[in-house]
Amino acid sequence: MIPPEVRILTDPDAVARAAAERISAVAGSPGRFVLVLSGGATPRRLHVLLASPEFRDRVPWDRTTVLFGDERCVPPDHPESNYRMARETLLDDVPLDPESILRIRGEDDPEGAASDYEASLRRLFAAEGAPRASLVLLGMGADGHTASLFPGTRALEPTDRWVVANFVPHLGAWRITWTVPALAAARRVLFLVTGADKAELAAEAFGGAPHPVQHPAEEVARKAGEVAVYLDVAAAERFQRK
Ligand code: 6PG
Repeated sequence: MIPPEVRILTDPDAVARAAAERISAVAGSPGRFVLVLSGGATPRRLHVLLASPEFRDRVPWDRTTVLFGDERCVPPDHPESNYRMARETLLDDVPLDPESILRIRGEDDPEGAASDYEASLRRLFAAEGAPRASLVLLGMGADGHTASLFPGTRALEPTDRWVVANFVPHLGAWRITWTVPALAAARRVLFLVTGADKAELAAEAFGGAPHPVQHPAEEVARKAGEVAVYLDVAAAERFQRK
């Protein structure tokens, strides 16, 4: 395990800017660029920046494929949909071929949608035999979850699956999510963590604070290849190693 590259930036805008720089740098490598988006609120600033005149021409959208690391089990136009958020803040504003956006069908039966998405990933990554995405964006919840891998849920059990349906009891809702081995297979993982509400878990997962139980975000970071964690000062406030 290579320790993650940890960068502490002044505020969420600085985190978004650093992430946009990293994404455009990675995208500049030859060949197809497979970007996996995460959901929630944190990526919004990054998406808007990537779609802005400053960055939109720095990503080769004509050889980019956009995937989703997880999705809520709602229709694509639902306010909770990660796809809807990405469409509104990024996908509608960059010259991406619609065929190169592979959304998770949150409107379908969860198990079926997970199997279908896994099948599409296995086709996309047939040559690699693993979901070797160029860069996977991930967030972290205040409970240490990442994608829809919530603590204590079945999706965290050992598996050969790349995508599973995951019932999340405290939400009373189904989610569809990449699994730990699938996320860990990526060429690069970039966590974006901002806000004081994440400080305790960020310190445990990435900042050297002692803790008895490994968090899902930490497990992915430990198992993935090249990992970077960009936090703002507020989220890194309780780090025990700077
Ligand atoms: C989701 C995300 C999830 C998110 C964290 C952090 O579908 O909600 O994939 O893993 O990254 O919950 O969310 P915020 O960025 O809103 O804090």
